[in-house]
Amino acid sequence: MPQISINGHPCEFEDGQSILEVALAHETEIPHYCWHPGLSVVASCRICLVEVWAPNPRNDNKLEAIPKLLPACQTPASDGQVVHTDSPKAVGNQRSVMEYLLINHPVDCPVCDQAGECSLQDYAYRYGRAGSRFEEEKLKQSKKDLGPDVLLYGDRCIMCSRCVRFTREVTGTSELMVSGRGASEAIDVFPGVALDNELSGNVIDLCPVGALLDKDFLFQQRVWYLTRTPSIDGLTSAGDNISVEHNHGTVFRIKPRTNLEVNQWWISDEIRWGWKFIHDESRHRIPAVRGHESWAPEEADVAWSTALSSTVAGLKDRHIGVLISPMLACEDAWHLARMARQMDPDALLAVGPVPFEGEDKTFPGGYTIRAEKAPNARGVRRVLEAFGGRVTDAAGFEVALSSESGPEAVVLTGNYPSAWVTESFAEALGDRFVVLIDTMPNRLETRCDVFMPAATWVEKSGTFENVDGRLQAFERAIEPLDYCKSDAQIAIDLLAVHDGVQADWFNAAMTRQAMSIESGMKEFLEEVHMPEAQTTVESDMEVVEL
Ligand code: FES
Repeated sequence: MPQISINGHPCEFEDGQSILEVALAHETEIPHYCWHPGLSVVASCRICLVEVWAPNPRNDNKLEAIPKLLPACQTPASDGQVVHTDSPKAVGNQRSVMEYLLINHPVDCPVCDQAGECSLQDYAYRYGRAGSRFEEEKLKQSKKDLGPDVLLYGDRCIMCSRCVRFTREVTGTSELMVSGRGASEAIDVFPGVALDNELSGNVIDLCPVGALLDKDFLFQQRVWYLTRTPSIDGLTSAGDNISVEHNHGTVFRIKPRTNLEVNQWWISDEIRWGWKFIHDESRHRIPAVRGHESWAPEEADVAWSTALSSTVAGLKDRHIGVLISPMLACEDAWHLARMARQMDPDALLAVGPVPFEGEDKTFPGGYTIRAEKAPNARGVRRVLEAFGGRVTDAAGFEVALSSESGPEAVVLTGNYPSAWVTESFAEALGDRFVVLIDTMPNRLETRCDVFMPAATWVEKSGTFENVDGRLQAFERAIEPLDYCKSDAQIAIDLLAVHDGVQADWFNAAMTRQAMSIESGMKEFLEEVHMPEAQTTVESDMEVVEL
């Protein structure tokens, strides 16, 4: 394999890689602003310039210095090159570029949302000068609303043009441009146009400084207080890899995690901002049972034990139907189906309604927004089919409710971000015994006999199967709201009450093992893509209590 040397370290590379890509692949830092792996290379910021020596074939392949510094992001690696990022010339350039970028920068880190995850801050510390020689008045640029979700703080922009290239190359919507020349250059939207495409939030992540900001996250939290939990999109069938960023049980933002096989570097705005229902005031927090007064928070234990025993009493010796929502994890589906089939070996199992909005939309950059607005329809179906027997979909379930041989008692699960029960479905339930395990208010909450509040996907761990059949595990980011439980835990508790034994705690890894052994679904041991470990954003400044 060809190799180059970077600061004395031999680094193998593949044809077509730039010096910067080789360095990053070998965990060697070369500062860079304008380069991004998902965008074209413009080599405009000049911070990545390196000193290169290369064999000269016209001089017996002797190593010769290339007279000018070269941009590492744009220069292809070639066998035998010797690269210095720490030579006096390279370091001199890094310091000059940093000094130039900071000339008009307001250095307002204490009030900037990007502080703590800012490349300008990091590189100023690692490659910049200790002080500024600039004594003149700084140029001021405006703050501007670019669209419904993104704010521009023009002062902080370093003109890397990543955001402009994103709208041209990835979304193909071209709302952004560079206006002006020289010191008056600025990022702007074209006249009469707003940055309002379905992927617009990605420019916030792309911005290496604090120029493009998320209106929703503005001044909400210092980033070093956030814990990042690797997760999977819980709203659509895309299976996008995401990080849930949270602090003290509150989710503050969702960001993409790079996965070149699924979502590349991006997520859609609906995934980025569609999670707000998890902190909705109207969410159910405590069980309710028909004929009982509602319970106060301090009576949560009584509420749960009454709800579980009433459910078991209502399901016992009856023909059961269970509707398992495609919003649930495979592990939830397995525990619910197992519980139902143990109480009634002929129980009807069904995949809940799968919401669709329009058609799949693929952008020029290759990212696809899925029309299917449920994360796990395939996974739930896969699990239910492994149980064999009577398995159907939501329409088949509704038909079964109308037939004489249909279930006498039903367990319904929801977990959709909004109301999901149609009028015809509610009517088809008739006067049979209904247990509802759900998250948000819907028309069945006053009709059902027992209601149990469920946890959302960020409050539990599990596995989703995306539209391409890829099984991906996700971790719990925050504790379930108040007295909510995961659907899997509720199923475990119900079965324990039914069998008169102590309930186990739900564990996703153990469940996948049981799914493999008891139900022959070996893929849950062998094919599930596991997330990386949870991380906290570390500040390099000591946090001082005042
Ligand atoms: Fe190479 Fe900007 S990263 S010039």
